Amino acid sequence: MSIRFDPEHQTLTLDTRRTTYQMQIHAGRLEHLYYGRRAEGPMDALFLPMDFAFSPTPYEFKTTRNWSLDVVPQEYSGANTGDFRLSSIDLRTDTGVWGADLRYVRHEIRPGKYDLTGLPCAFARDGEAETLSVLLSDEAAGIEVELLYGVFEERDTICRAARIRNAGTGKVWLEKAASVCLDVPFGAWDLVHFQGRHAMERQMERVPLMHGIHTVSSRRGVSSHQHNPFVILCGRDTDEDQGDCYGVMLSYSGSFRIDAEVDQLGSVRLISAIHDQRFTWELAPGETFDTPETILSFSHEGLGELSRTYHRFLRRHVIRSGALDRPRPVLLNNWEGTYFDFDTEKLLSIARHAKDLGVDLLVLDDGWFGKRDDDNSGLGDWYVNERKLPGGLGPLISQVNALGLKFGLWIEPEMVSEDSDLYRAHPDWALTVPGRRPAMGRNQLVLDMGRKEVVDHLFDAFSELLRREHIEYIKWDMNRNLTDLYSRALPEDRQGEAPHRYVLGLYDLARRLTEAFPDVLFEGCSGGGGRFDAGMLAYFPQIWCSDDTDAIERLEIQRGTSFGYPPASMGAHVSASPNHQTGRDTPLGTRAVVAMAGTFGYELDPGKLTEEEKEEVKGQIARFRRYDALLRDGDLYRLSPSSEMPFTAWQVVAPDRSEALLSVVLTHPRANPTPLHLCLRGLDPDARYVLRRETFGARRAADQWYLADPEEKEDMRSGSALMYGGLTLPSMFGDFPSVQVHLKKV
Ligand code: DGJ
Repeated sequence: MSIRFDPEHQTLTLDTRRTTYQMQIHAGRLEHLYYGRRAEGPMDALFLPMDFAFSPTPYEFKTTRNWSLDVVPQEYSGANTGDFRLSSIDLRTDTGVWGADLRYVRHEIRPGKYDLTGLPCAFARDGEAETLSVLLSDEAAGIEVELLYGVFEERDTICRAARIRNAGTGKVWLEKAASVCLDVPFGAWDLVHFQGRHAMERQMERVPLMHGIHTVSSRRGVSSHQHNPFVILCGRDTDEDQGDCYGVMLSYSGSFRIDAEVDQLGSVRLISAIHDQRFTWELAPGETFDTPETILSFSHEGLGELSRTYHRFLRRHVIRSGALDRPRPVLLNNWEGTYFDFDTEKLLSIARHAKDLGVDLLVLDDGWFGKRDDDNSGLGDWYVNERKLPGGLGPLISQVNALGLKFGLWIEPEMVSEDSDLYRAHPDWALTVPGRRPAMGRNQLVLDMGRKEVVDHLFDAFSELLRREHIEYIKWDMNRNLTDLYSRALPEDRQGEAPHRYVLGLYDLARRLTEAFPDVLFEGCSGGGGRFDAGMLAYFPQIWCSDDTDAIERLEIQRGTSFGYPPASMGAHVSASPNHQTGRDTPLGTRAVVAMAGTFGYELDPGKLTEEEKEEVKGQIARFRRYDALLRDGDLYRLSPSSEMPFTAWQVVAPDRSEALLSVVLTHPRANPTPLHLCLRGLDPDARYVLRRETFGARRAADQWYLADPEEKEDMRSGSALMYGGLTLPSMFGDFPSVQVHLKKV
């Protein structure tokens, strides 16, 4: 039993293998006691009754004056009741009540994992999870809040969400509805978050939390390139290998905010929620509203272990597609090879070259449909551009299949060009404010996904396409942020619902299509990684990580992404050199080493490779196939603690420690360099491993290799020697060389 109620102390305790979470029913309210390393017994001695001036006391404490909601940690903070810290919920009613004073009503412990309506939600197989439901209510406002806790004992993970119900007789308008309130009363903390921009997503930033509020948020209608809905609260001295840290991952793909407030006593309150800017949600009597889910985890073994916990959890309990359980196809995407300039002959020539190299899947990117020769028109017209592809997709796909390749296709369902038949037929389907010219992004408009007829139309169009053609992969793109949020399907006083209804419509379409076509591999994308979040991963097992395909820039983008998301979910390709985004030259071998930190594929015109490069690519694909299972399932260890180092190194270790792959990319070659020394991680200390190394793009690498014979590529070392003594790598010479060392237990 991972969830226990202690009637004597009125505590509810959620235990996982290495963590304990505890709350207490006290004075009719639900207080938070503890979340951290596994501990036994009640924790109620942590909070002593005290009188804090200017921190109001609930009515029941008016004479003792020794208890305040403003001071004591809460499970789900109310509003307008004397807790001046951030509220988890805000609302008003048609009787003029505002705020929420939440009182404990009852709780229930049940087997299995709770589900949410219309929202992505972690899932459990038999016996993998238990649910705690705690009902709170505010009679004056006529609402009930059901706090949901899904406890995955073996995974050290707790999912949380709230279900809010109008239990009264009048109307209620929600103005804020958080998924999680997490009070961390003691300690000095840093906030780790992942900021960025288009083509430079998820750059890790670590800031000391000071008094006041630090907000990580997106108001762009999508989770965004700029901020990711995942943050880590960690001790000041926590690093990759040691120290306390909490992960807060919001499973949501729309506008969000995660606030971290340090209050007058130095306590931290973390709130994760749908963004409340202009958010309202009307609840008629009896109606409910489900918040998105937040996935929580705690590690006392540093950031590395926290990441590995999230990777395992997302792979097993969030990503519904079985794609990560099967060998992954090596794909070649034509985007950077041709952009919009292609026809059947060009694509078939690419396909023939790709087949010779050992590629499995040809992906036709943007430009195959409607009137689409550039990015100014055609979105919404999901029928083939016969000028480029005479006879349609069918003949192209049959010829690609006849070569022995699978076929994949790019789509951008949520968008419409003004110059399209769809827009001419349904101008009201686009999000625009009446009487105002809309802001344009990539010269396109956004469809109102909150409207059922829009989602139905898209489902019909794409399911017909997927039924008719033999398409085995879909790249689902989304190339602008949401503006002009006004839905013609909603009355004036409910326009505040439009952004969340958009996200619900998106999830509905993604769910219907992925359920109807379970054998199709879906890859999410939003101008690269503009919507890389656990919500999208519930439908798409992989997401194109960034439009920046420069291998050296990708090191930081993928490293930042890896704090929360599994490597196997990160779309990563080898592209041409010089790179199209940066103009940088990087050795072909290094480009492949970096792409193997993600899904691995190619994005170039293979006909332009030299014969020597083609041979090298064949070798890369063969290597990827050898390592695929290890890279998909293994545990990631980040070995270079920061981007300040002259190299980036990471290691993937098989769950049974029988095998590992170390990858190192030299990013700043130095004159007279100091030794590049690394201690490996996660190996079996008592086992012996055969090491096999390969160096890429280095001029003069082998001469300083630690082996006696530089030509010899194999060596045998013990796990303990490699972890405690470490490994000293050759001081490689030249621009961006790399090394892969494969370790196999003997
Ligand atoms: C943005 C994507 O991230 C690119 O990979 C490519 O698909 C383009 N859109 C096509 O318009």
